[in-house]
Amino acid sequence: ATIRREDYRPPDWFIPEIELDFQLGLERTVVRSKLDVRRSKSAKYDAPLILNGDDLLPVNVLVDGKKWNEWKLEEGNLTLPLTGAAHIVEIEVELDPSTNTQLMGLYGSNGMLCTQCEAEGFRRITFFADRPDVLSRYKVRMEGDKQAFPILLCNGDKVEEGEAEGGRHWAQWNDPWPKPSYLFALVAGDLVANSDSFTTRSGKEVELNIWVRDGDLPRTGHAMQALKDSMRWDEEVYGREYDLGLFNIVAVSDFNMGAMENKGLNVFNSRYILADPEVATDADFDGIEGVVAHEYFHNWSGNRVTCRDWFQLSLKEGFTVFRDQSFSADMSSAALKRIEDVRILRAAQFPEDAGPLAHPIRPESYQEISNFYTATVYNKGAEIIRMMHSMMGAENFRKGTDLYFDRHDGEAATCEDFVVSMEDGGGIDLTQFRVWYRTPGTPRVSAKLSHNPQTGTATLELKQSIAAGGAKPGPSEMVIPLRTALLNPETGEHDGEQLLILDKAEQSFTFEGQNDHPVLSINRGFSAPIILENSRTAEELAFLSSHDDDPFARFEAMQQLMTGYLTAQITGTPADRDIILQAIGAVLADENIDRAFLAEIILLPTEAFLGDQMVEVDPQAIHDAREKLRGKIGVQFERKFRRLYKQCVPGEFSLSAEARADRKLRNVTLGYIAASQVEDAAEIAYDQYCDANNMTAMQGALGVLSHLDAEERGHAFESFYTRFKDNALVLDKWFTMQAMSQRSDTIKRVDALSRHPDFTLANPNRVRALYGAFAGNQVRFHDPSGRGYAMIADMVIALDPQNPQTAARFIPQLGRWRRYERGRSELMRLALEKIAATSNLSKDVAEQVSKSLA
Ligand code: ARG
Ligand code: ZN
Repeated sequence: ATIRREDYRPPDWFIPEIELDFQLGLERTVVRSKLDVRRSKSAKYDAPLILNGDDLLPVNVLVDGKKWNEWKLEEGNLTLPLTGAAHIVEIEVELDPSTNTQLMGLYGSNGMLCTQCEAEGFRRITFFADRPDVLSRYKVRMEGDKQAFPILLCNGDKVEEGEAEGGRHWAQWNDPWPKPSYLFALVAGDLVANSDSFTTRSGKEVELNIWVRDGDLPRTGHAMQALKDSMRWDEEVYGREYDLGLFNIVAVSDFNMGAMENKGLNVFNSRYILADPEVATDADFDGIEGVVAHEYFHNWSGNRVTCRDWFQLSLKEGFTVFRDQSFSADMSSAALKRIEDVRILRAAQFPEDAGPLAHPIRPESYQEISNFYTATVYNKGAEIIRMMHSMMGAENFRKGTDLYFDRHDGEAATCEDFVVSMEDGGGIDLTQFRVWYRTPGTPRVSAKLSHNPQTGTATLELKQSIAAGGAKPGPSEMVIPLRTALLNPETGEHDGEQLLILDKAEQSFTFEGQNDHPVLSINRGFSAPIILENSRTAEELAFLSSHDDDPFARFEAMQQLMTGYLTAQITGTPADRDIILQAIGAVLADENIDRAFLAEIILLPTEAFLGDQMVEVDPQAIHDAREKLRGKIGVQFERKFRRLYKQCVPGEFSLSAEARADRKLRNVTLGYIAASQVEDAAEIAYDQYCDANNMTAMQGALGVLSHLDAEERGHAFESFYTRFKDNALVLDKWFTMQAMSQRSDTIKRVDALSRHPDFTLANPNRVRALYGAFAGNQVRFHDPSGRGYAMIADMVIALDPQNPQTAARFIPQLGRWRRYERGRSELMRLALEKIAATSNLSKDVAEQVSKSLA
């Protein structure tokens, strides 16, 4: 069934109070609930109370203390034909967490019990109005075996605890803040805590705990620091203070997503908590910092102000991603962070927006909401908030968010509420800007700069367009803020950047005082999530790649230069390679360049990104052209790369910007040294692997070795396995690096790994490590035989009955079939057809497959 945004109706019943009693057991948990239900003033007098359930049977139902048998189960939901304005409803259900392989609701993971309720998991724990606009105060008693579950955690504050019969104990947790059911969480297990505290700006002391399994305690320091930094940052930048005396985080190893912002009890995929230099890369450290911040920031953007319905998901997710991106930018390098954000947007969101699963950041309809936790809702959502920030300026933006938090505290709000608050508080008219909320697809902008030497004026002609089918009724022109500067063609200097607002289909801007034809630097900092159509010559791009003072624009110019050349190569159009070599030579010779930035700017665009630029994708042709250029760059600058490689020798491990830059540049130069196919590449990589005192260097070396035919490859992978086989998160890397290999035997290897004793479909991290990496390996996944497609299809069919949410995440890779050359396209479609023909598909997979084939 399709749920539509326009069909929203407020609830007939509210449930201001709920009491829950859990008798915990891995194989049998009894849940008793006591609901204080109140008929809404606007509801009909006889509107029944409908409580959602998923896979539940009521063992016992009481209404106002008396046994009640008039309930019905309809599509899993419990319907109670009640009259009157208020009742007490008590329900008992029984669960078997050990068979809950979906990882939604209450489930077992490594002997502990934990929950995931967003979006619709609470209805797998008990019958309830499982919708975000029903807010309740929770009182929870949990009881379980003391040995199996020495630690009992829930939302809010622990108010009482005690011993019970038969070696059991219990705890009573009350959460003073009304919340929707998706923010409920409970954890019971054998855990230890890294404990610390934080004093809020008003002087309240908050106890902080990060709960993990015994041996993992030494790997929690980075997450704890990130938590304290986030708490401070949200006070300083948004004026938001934490509102309980306790903040708990629990790391679990079986988790469908990254983490979850349950009130006062965040539950995390352990990969976003556990780190030390031996097991985590610099990117892993950043991931932890970002996700810890993200979940913490949800306490205001998500929990104190929540969503009215799931169509509003971007209200909390887009805004919170923007907040965590800004935080990470403040914690380290804003320029590198922005490059990274845009890379993710282009890798995950642009393809989504260009394919059969495209949707606006505020979707109009869905079948399964889990399918809408997408890069569009999250990352494009964040870009839309970022544009507001650019147009309003930091100060007015803050006035807008202050008003938003103030006005809607304790409420379930809409995206529209947010926009209105920004208008009222920040003094801006966002009428036309709202088009972004209802329009799918990435806008394209063309920019043409002309110069009139007689008048000393330059004229910039801008045009915007959006892919057909994108626009919904109403005005379709987007408001596109473009940070722009005109650079002097000799010196690269400019007299200030301007924020141009493109809000018509075509528009031109005139700049005075331009004696020479300036070079256009536009969409600086990626101020708008658009595709800029080739508006500049290769010479201009090369100039910008060494002169632009906006680091993102400088990086972007080099990317566009490389992309232009490679797409020409792939389609057999003549193009100039020397200009790229010169541009790279120039940045390599730049003595003032930041080393981490240098490592970014000399990287070639990915095969996936190049594919996105093509009308018809031929992954082999893309791979060949890219490898050829990589080899040429490697040969041309071999001596320089070797020198840089030596200069970046690692000393004692540190997370300082300099040490990180050295590690990054060392890995990038190693990649180029190997690309030049010199004899000693494997040896250098192997030495780096053996000498490494950190995972960034180890992974860099293994990544290079993984593609090579040398015996060092086997040695290194074997030694890595032996050393890390007991650390699941590191073993994931071992699977991933093999699945990412460009070697022609990769499909066979992935197939063999799927039968490795350490492989299991039961753990989402492991599934993503092997199959997620493989499906992203353009040249091997797209093997012309179609074996890669069949492998993913068979895995989806096997995984779907256990874990539909994770299975459905693999459909988009096949769903892009229309973009590929005929042979592959047909084979991809057949793989989708095979999935579609499977009986008893989950809603999750069925929705994605049917949309992909439509
Ligand atoms: N709200 C969580 C976050 O953004 C994501 C949870 C999504 N979970 C799910 N099963 N769909 O951090
Ligand atoms: Zn989130």
